[in-house]
Amino acid sequence: MSFDEETRHFPSARETQVGLPARRAAAELLSAVIDKKQPLDDILGRSLAIGWMFDLPQRDRALARAIVATSLRRRGQIDRVLDTFLERGLPEKAGKLYPILLSGAAQLIFLKTPPHAAIDLTVRLTQHDACARRYDKLVNAVLRRVAKDGKRIVADLDAPRVNTPDWLWARWVSRYGEDRAHAIAAANLVEPPLDLTVKSNPEERTAQMSVRVLPNGSVRLLPKGRIEALPGYEQGAWWVQDVAASLPAHLMGRVAGKRVADLCAAPGGKTAQLALGGASVAAVDISKTRLKMLSTNLARLGLNATTVAADAATWSPDEHFDAVLLDAPCSSTGTIRRHPDIPYLKSPKDINDLAALQARLLDNAVALLRPGGTLVYSTCSLEHEEGEAQIAALLERNRAIQVNPILPNDVFGQADWIQSPGFLRTFPYQLDLGTPEWSGMDGFFAARLKSNK
Ligand SMILES: C[S@@+](CC[C@H](N)C(=O)[O-])C[C@H]1O[C@@H](n2cnc3c(N)ncnc32)[C@H](O)[C@@H]1O
Repeated sequence: MSFDEETRHFPSARETQVGLPARRAAAELLSAVIDKKQPLDDILGRSLAIGWMFDLPQRDRALARAIVATSLRRRGQIDRVLDTFLERGLPEKAGKLYPILLSGAAQLIFLKTPPHAAIDLTVRLTQHDACARRYDKLVNAVLRRVAKDGKRIVADLDAPRVNTPDWLWARWVSRYGEDRAHAIAAANLVEPPLDLTVKSNPEERTAQMSVRVLPNGSVRLLPKGRIEALPGYEQGAWWVQDVAASLPAHLMGRVAGKRVADLCAAPGGKTAQLALGGASVAAVDISKTRLKMLSTNLARLGLNATTVAADAATWSPDEHFDAVLLDAPCSSTGTIRRHPDIPYLKSPKDINDLAALQARLLDNAVALLRPGGTLVYSTCSLEHEEGEAQIAALLERNRAIQVNPILPNDVFGQADWIQSPGFLRTFPYQLDLGTPEWSGMDGFFAARLKSNK
């Protein structure tokens, strides 16, 4: 990928004359992710609604988001460059010095920011930070060297490897082998396209926008500007959902007239699919705030579901369901393309803790099924513990459950999305549409199970 491709949708500093506020927002966001382990989307959501990004014009927000995403996607490469020029390492107790340097170097190496603007604004940003301010000359000196030699240094590095933290790399190599680990990591470096699940007539949508129609009928476009400004948003004609995320609901087969429990339902992409398919859906989620988002989304789409705020691991209504969809909370390592903060938020311990929660959720999901009912379990994780191993353990614990293998026909003829013994397993490097920016899909796991009780 060229540097220009990475920034194709984002204005450069020269074009917009944006300055310090966008850079400050970027450094704040990076600090929140790296130092405080806060998910980027959560902070963005909060700061857009009430916080320090609230007053920023849309273009500044887009630039801040681009600087943050690039800094995180390319963090490994940028760190190598900074290490080369920080002869004595990073000083201690230096406030936001590291996020400031990271964001400045990202602009110089990977974004189209003119060097004088990137250096000047980053030095001024340093001078605004009470703890980092005494290092303004260091920032100036380091960034001048980055401007001169940064691109040459990163060009010699194996970008997919260097930008993947060691713990994740080791996991993927041991599970999938070096070549596939490399392909996963390479796909994670590319800004992903935007997939929309459309209520009807994908071809009609094609006429209005520059899009591709995917094998499942999703419409793919290159993200540009606000999602709410795309045609059909107000009319509720579509919702945002990666092609891979749309597959678990398809695995339920025909749901018209069926009673379906959607456990862990918010923000409701899969609930919407089930409701559109004619199911009567109970949408369960532990988070009231996220359930509100689900209700708002369904209202825009003109679709209905009953919402239930409950812990799906213990929820026990007075009914059994024809089908249960459990789209469990997970490490989300299949969605790093969209969420480049994930490698810096999650740890091996999180994966173990989440796997324990998934097992409890699965046991309750089985208990909610009527005899002969269908359970679809899915996660947007590439980790074995949250996918294949989870199902193997369930089958050991519960003899009344068996695998109902997923067949190519269930996934629009895409046999390479299926692995023995009939599980869905997609990777970020799949769905090649010719160029990196149009290609890829989230990494997902799904299993379809049947109750024999
Ligand atoms: C992967 S997201 C679900 C995405 C959703 N299925 C969709 O397609 O839009 C996981 C959801 O699980 C919810 N969650 C986490 N723990 C839960 C629990 N114990 N019971 C119910 N929901 C839970 C979270 O609030 C979050 O909304």
